Amino acid sequence: MVLVKQWIYEVRPEADVSPANYRYEEVEQDLTPVRGEVVVEGVYWSVDPYMRIQQSSKDTWEAPHPTGEVQGAAVVGRVTRVGEGVTALKVGDWVETYMGWSSAGLRAVADCRLLNADEVSPSTALHVLGMPGRIAYFGLLEAGKPRPGETLVVSGAAGAVGSIVGQIGKLAGLRVIGVVGSDEKARWITEELGFDAAINYRQVTDVEGMKQAFAEHAPDGVDIYYDNTGGVTTDAFIESMNLRARIIICGQISQYQSGLEVPNMGPRLLHHFLYKRATMTGVLARDYTARMDEMLKVMGPWVRDGKIRYNETVIDGFEKLPEALCGLFTGANTGKMIVKA
Ligand SMILES: NC(=O)c1ccc[n+]([C@@H]2O[C@H](COP(=O)([O-])OP(=O)(O)OC[C@H]3O[C@@H](n4cnc5c(N)ncnc54)[C@H](OP(=O)(O)O)[C@@H]3O)[C@@H](O)[C@H]2O)c1
Repeated sequence: MVLVKQWIYEVRPEADVSPANYRYEEVEQDLTPVRGEVVVEGVYWSVDPYMRIQQSSKDTWEAPHPTGEVQGAAVVGRVTRVGEGVTALKVGDWVETYMGWSSAGLRAVADCRLLNADEVSPSTALHVLGMPGRIAYFGLLEAGKPRPGETLVVSGAAGAVGSIVGQIGKLAGLRVIGVVGSDEKARWITEELGFDAAINYRQVTDVEGMKQAFAEHAPDGVDIYYDNTGGVTTDAFIESMNLRARIIICGQISQYQSGLEVPNMGPRLLHHFLYKRATMTGVLARDYTARMDEMLKVMGPWVRDGKIRYNETVIDGFEKLPEALCGLFTGANTGKMIVKA
């Protein structure tokens, strides 16, 4: 028997998610792998904004996360035991697997992605070379249809997805403007990641102010908007976008803490889409799961060669998982927020 630590999603939040919505437990589990299974011990756990979306009582792309169960999450860890007939994995291998907020667990080999930890940190499988990187890559390049010389605005630009979107945008020959929540993040994306300009949305009070900021940094207007946040930034963009602009809806984090229960006002800005013959496309990482290798073939070398850079905000200690999740909604992370054992 093995003592397994777990975080149980226990109570649906009424407003802001807090550690009180989770229950910690330690349970003795029989982790004896059967044929085709391995035991994985977690080293890095992911916290992601979608976890708060799944805490809404409403269906989204799937039913809400059930209460009373281990919080679902991507995990990077090491194989510690292999069952009969397993040849694809061996003890000591690094894998990424959707094991949730558990310290260890039994996993089918087919549910594990083998990682090559020689060239990049295995933790990158939770961000730049994982799900966030995948939606950054396909969302911008396929839904955004960028052409060299165009201008891109990305919101949530210092986060896991946004920081990668902006850098792919630069590699695609775009002028890139990032919208972030602090001057420090603005400096990081411009001075270290190569964004052309940054706007600190906390210094902008309303839609008019954001439109002015766009006009100042993009005098020829903006062609593509990769939206991670919604809110004032999105409203301002819609009112000032170029002809045939493309809006990519990747996330709307400014709305998640309401649990998506707040009655929708309904879109009031759609007339601009008529004038500008613009398009708005929702993108979901799981739609591109089957194309993961295609993304890794391009992004892997970019990361290894330093063409795409990343940052991790690492919180030490499995017991801090709920706290780390809450930090996503206060901007506590620069780059990807992860928890380390
Ligand atoms: N469609 C998909 O398949 C998919 C996949 C992954 C992620 N996403 C979405 O992409 C977005 C970013 O996800 P991520 O994993 O990369 O997270 P992240 O950007 O690394 O972390 C969240 C960031 O959002 C910003 N934020 C929090 N509350 C905000 C608010 N009220 N207004 C504006 N910004 C706010 C904070 O940065 P500041 O300090 O800059 O405010 C925070 O650091 C989320 O909306 C997420 O749901 C979608």
